[in-house]
Amino acid sequence: MQEITLRRPDDWHLHLRDGAMLKGVLPETSRHFARAIIMPNLVPPVVTGEQAAAYRDRILAALPEGAAFEPLMTLYLTEGTDPADVAAAAASGLVKAVKLYPAGATTNSQSGVRDLTGVMPVLEKMAEIGLPLCTHGEVTAAEVDIFDREAVFIDTVLDPLRRRLPELRVVMEHITTREGADYAAAGGPNLGATITTHHLIINRNHILVGGIKPHYYCLPVAKREKHRLALRRAAVSGKGCYFLGTDSAPHVDALKEHACGCAGCFTATNTMALLAHVFEQEGALDRLEAFASLNGPAFYRLPVNETRLRLVKRDQPHAFPDKIFTEAGPVTVFNPGFPVHWHVES
Ligand code: DOR
Ligand code: ZN
Repeated sequence: MQEITLRRPDDWHLHLRDGAMLKGVLPETSRHFARAIIMPNLVPPVVTGEQAAAYRDRILAALPEGAAFEPLMTLYLTEGTDPADVAAAAASGLVKAVKLYPAGATTNSQSGVRDLTGVMPVLEKMAEIGLPLCTHGEVTAAEVDIFDREAVFIDTVLDPLRRRLPELRVVMEHITTREGADYAAAGGPNLGATITTHHLIINRNHILVGGIKPHYYCLPVAKREKHRLALRRAAVSGKGCYFLGTDSAPHVDALKEHACGCAGCFTATNTMALLAHVFEQEGALDRLEAFASLNGPAFYRLPVNETRLRLVKRDQPHAFPDKIFTEAGPVTVFNPGFPVHWHVES
């Protein structure tokens, strides 16, 4: 048996949804994580401080008895967002970031941003008060190939924005490319990047070879193997700009296994065990704590967690559930396709 103990991790990018789905998936995260940045792409989206406060209350009400979990709320940026509302929600401590979805880029992004000029007053206010902008970094123009959308976003949207507003603190969410990892590393203290668990494990072949695997389809879509390897090097590097954001994104099976399947991998249940596996493979178990528990709080200027999480590796593989059963329907747990010997023990 092998074991490691970490400061309790945080998830810097999480979808909890609402209602029956929220109730079903929240324990999967609160079991292991102390805090999470909660994505605002509900229907309708969480746009105002008032809506974020109400959503936070629904999350707290859905927590299992005795769970110690703090939802860190975000606002969904629209071309109608009021800079004063954002500033007030940040000043009260309720809101920790604002999320930029380019309109049409992903699940429930229809109300997102078509043209950054319309949101410059909000971004200028955020730069002034130090409130991070979380970016879904993909362009949506039909002529741009889906596998190129992240790299084109960096060149045509993110870099010009950061040159115009160097004080703006930005998180490149769920980077999937070598270009993303390199850009984040070169960006200085105002730039961070989250990396998901699944993008460390799958490349695009896993989605497409031998039949289409809808449970591996997420956005940004997994890229070529060289990009997966670059993400692994980044995650295990210990560099402060990289931190865990699982993008665990539940959809009921009926909507994943569908002619037009939803994007999202549900990894909340086994993320920490999978990360221990990956970091051990990379000879970097001693850097898992930096990635999952230290670098994120440092970027968000929050204290690290004082409680601990213990991971144990046994000779026999651990049996994770294939699915969790929510009142909204079954949700398939991400299957890495290899046996996992690690699991969280406490
Ligand atoms: O795969 C994804 N699922 N990517 C996103 O950007 C959104 C998310 C969701 O909300 O389902
Ligand atoms: Zn997401």
